[in-house]
Amino acid sequence: MSNKKIVINKSMNLRGSVKIAGAKNSALGILAAIVCVGEPCIIENVPDISDVALMCSILSKLGVKIDMISKNSIKVDPRNITLTCANFDEIRHMRASYYLLGALLSRFGEASVAMPGGCDFGLRPMDQHIKGFEALGAKCETIGGITSVKCKHLKGGRVYLDVVSVGATINTMIAAVRAEGTTIIENAAKEPHVVDLANFLNSCGADIHGAGIDVITINGVKSLTGTRYQIIPDQIEAGTYMAASVATQSDILITNVIPKHLEAISAKLREIGGEIEFFEDSVRVSCNNKNLRKCNVKTMPYPGFPTDMQPQIVALLSVCEGTSMVTEGVWESRFRYISELRRMGAKVSVDGRLAVIEGVKNLVGTNVKSVDLRAGAAVIIAGLIADGQTRIENISHIERGYENIVGKLSNLGADIKNIIETPEKVFLGAC
Ligand code: EPZ
Repeated sequence: MSNKKIVINKSMNLRGSVKIAGAKNSALGILAAIVCVGEPCIIENVPDISDVALMCSILSKLGVKIDMISKNSIKVDPRNITLTCANFDEIRHMRASYYLLGALLSRFGEASVAMPGGCDFGLRPMDQHIKGFEALGAKCETIGGITSVKCKHLKGGRVYLDVVSVGATINTMIAAVRAEGTTIIENAAKEPHVVDLANFLNSCGADIHGAGIDVITINGVKSLTGTRYQIIPDQIEAGTYMAASVATQSDILITNVIPKHLEAISAKLREIGGEIEFFEDSVRVSCNNKNLRKCNVKTMPYPGFPTDMQPQIVALLSVCEGTSMVTEGVWESRFRYISELRRMGAKVSVDGRLAVIEGVKNLVGTNVKSVDLRAGAAVIIAGLIADGQTRIENISHIERGYENIVGKLSNLGADIKNIIETPEKVFLGAC
């Protein structure tokens, strides 16, 4: 286990500005989709996070040529792919590796990908992905933890997703983009990164309409061309800093955002007592309200309150006056991190998909774990507002999805550091 930790001392009243990176969940879908495009693409505003590095490593093993133009720009050349079977260890560490099924199937008519891992929210089925592939005529089977899909001549079809699934929507879109004829996806996910992926594919010559509403139409094309494409800003990274600003009674300017994507998050932070002021591509979030107010939240598919902001808002609500209720409307069990907040003095009870949070005056810093990516963001927010010092381990989860979160918070005035703990001494890492 890594001995890297994040150490935080109480840090209220932050000031300054923070720039949001490209969206993790856009970047992962788009990088995989380049396999289907078949021509070199340059992707800009890619977040410098370990999930992107992992996806690039997986693509390289398939024969894709990856050139880092800069920290946030990558040239991806998929012309010499040699494998359609991705059964590497890395696959199990990232949910988004399942996009390779749709991408390899679309380009080569076959794909075998080990079943993915990713954050543990209970069951993470892929039945809707399979339903999408079968609607295009593919034969699908899972044997020994490897899902295989095959169809030499994909034909457009109609698929109604029984569950609003981001992954199944994206995977079906990628698989359909070169199929003969028209594919219609009904009950499609509307998340910003679904739209971003459709825009990327259309910039390569695809013919996709309706991304962002619940019916997406894909008219198959014979071939696609390379492109230069800029990833949209990360809605969840932006929301995380917004919640942190309210929790720490701060006044920060968050730049490189798309205001439309932050409506649900802003609504809840205003209910709690935050002040939110939008500009064209930035948002100022301030709070000088000592008595933050309780509020109820239900996470839903976009445009509802995002499930990936659920742990962060629970950390904030743990110090809001009154009793708040948070219902997890997407995942079957996404409250594993609550035990870590309880160690800091939060009063939260959980019953299935419902968390009941009784606000306390203050949290107290201690040693905690980051049980998954967004849970890590939650304990960072808790550490900023807790009395004393908080030491967070398992921070590799956080590094999966947040570019330089320690440096960004430190630049806002937070007392936060990366450290490497060794038995005999502690190294203070650069922010
Ligand atoms: C994506 O996961 C995101 N990950 C998740 O973000 C996010 O929580 C989720 O969408 C919901 O917004 C990436 O984009 C890499 P789903 P995904 O398919 O696609 C059920 C983060 O923090 N379902 O939209 O795996 C499923 O069980 C990560 O960045 C089926 O039943 O999520 C869940 O209840 C965590 N059958 C619901 O749909 C399926 O075939 C939504 O899942 C697929 C999903």
